[in-house]
Amino acid sequence: MVKNKVLLLGATGETGGDILNGLVEDGSFDVACLVRPSSASSAAVQELSTRGHNIVVVDLKGSFEKLVEAVRGYDTIISAIGAPDQTQQLELVDAAAAAGTKRFVPCAFMTVCPPGGIIGSRDDKESVYQRIWYHHLPYTIIDIGFWHQASVPRLASGRIDSKLIVARNEIYADGNVKSMLSDKRDIGRWVARIVQDERTINKKVFAHSEFLSQNDIVRIVEEKSGEKLELTHLSTTELKARREKAWADYVADPTSISKRLLRSIDDYNVSKYIRQDDTPENAKYLGYLDARELYPDVKTIGFAEFMDDFLADKIKRPYEGKHIGLMKPTQK
Ligand SMILES: NC(=O)c1ccc[n+]([C@@H]2O[C@H](COP(=O)([O-])OP(=O)(O)OC[C@H]3O[C@@H](n4cnc5c(N)ncnc54)[C@H](OP(=O)(O)O)[C@@H]3O)[C@@H](O)[C@H]2O)c1
Repeated sequence: MVKNKVLLLGATGETGGDILNGLVEDGSFDVACLVRPSSASSAAVQELSTRGHNIVVVDLKGSFEKLVEAVRGYDTIISAIGAPDQTQQLELVDAAAAAGTKRFVPCAFMTVCPPGGIIGSRDDKESVYQRIWYHHLPYTIIDIGFWHQASVPRLASGRIDSKLIVARNEIYADGNVKSMLSDKRDIGRWVARIVQDERTINKKVFAHSEFLSQNDIVRIVEEKSGEKLELTHLSTTELKARREKAWADYVADPTSISKRLLRSIDDYNVSKYIRQDDTPENAKYLGYLDARELYPDVKTIGFAEFMDDFLADKIKRPYEGKHIGLMKPTQK
């Protein structure tokens, strides 16, 4: 069988690592990993090489001719670059267009949200999408809702503190607004199906594991843990005011990682829980295809099942060993 030749950017990261696992599990792909020169000798890249993946070392901001040569010959390019680095993909898009890439999957993999000042990093992604459309480059945009792994509240006993990346103990408005969630382990499975499907060329696709409200999550976590959660309630007005302040603080100090993260957290909170952007209905309104309708046989991991694994210590903490600003559990 001729395999789909994929060049994956971000395989050492969270989303890219999940995508790599899904492509390998599917078996239809020959995956090479694009890495930047400064990471070429890292332990994480060595591990990719040990797993049998070709490593393509290239600087996105270096020689354009070298970049075109590096990406030539791949059927599909998938990017899972970190959130702050979205615009680094612009040259990669130019190079993919020059090399005749058959499908470019830019780094979306977030909640469903229109551009235009709602979520800052969504607007960064939009500039990449526009560059794709400028070139008439074949593409697929894949959004996935919010990770289960980043949606867990802190338990009062403190017994899961070391496993949390952010403690989600705030409830916004009445807590009943639903939004889409994905188990990280489902992302790669969806991507593997979507990128080998002609129906998804030049389309946006949303894929999610579950559609739940904050109150649903509280119920599940209390039931699974046997603990009563300590929650803080914020009204719509309070949340919007905090987001405004987070933006003002960020604009005054745009190189601060923690200020960017605080801004980003409330961008997402307002988009998901107040504006109700991240719903299947809104995704369809925005022109997305629904992966659950395209692939009804795909079994996803619901939040309750995820919590069982989480409490049984079977879930790897995202960004383990990396210092990412606020990515540590809130202490009492
Ligand atoms: N839906 C959700 O809940 C959710 C949660 C988090 C993130 N996301 C989205 O997922 C996307 C990926 O974020 P992440 O947190 O998974 O990423 P991450 O773990 O920070 O990893 C980023 C990856 O990009 C690579 N990279 C960065 N700059 C590069 C360059 N110039 N050339 C080549 N490789 C480069 C890094 O490689 P090295 O560092 O090894 O060089 C690393 O593999 C973001 O767009 C974000 O919006 C979504």
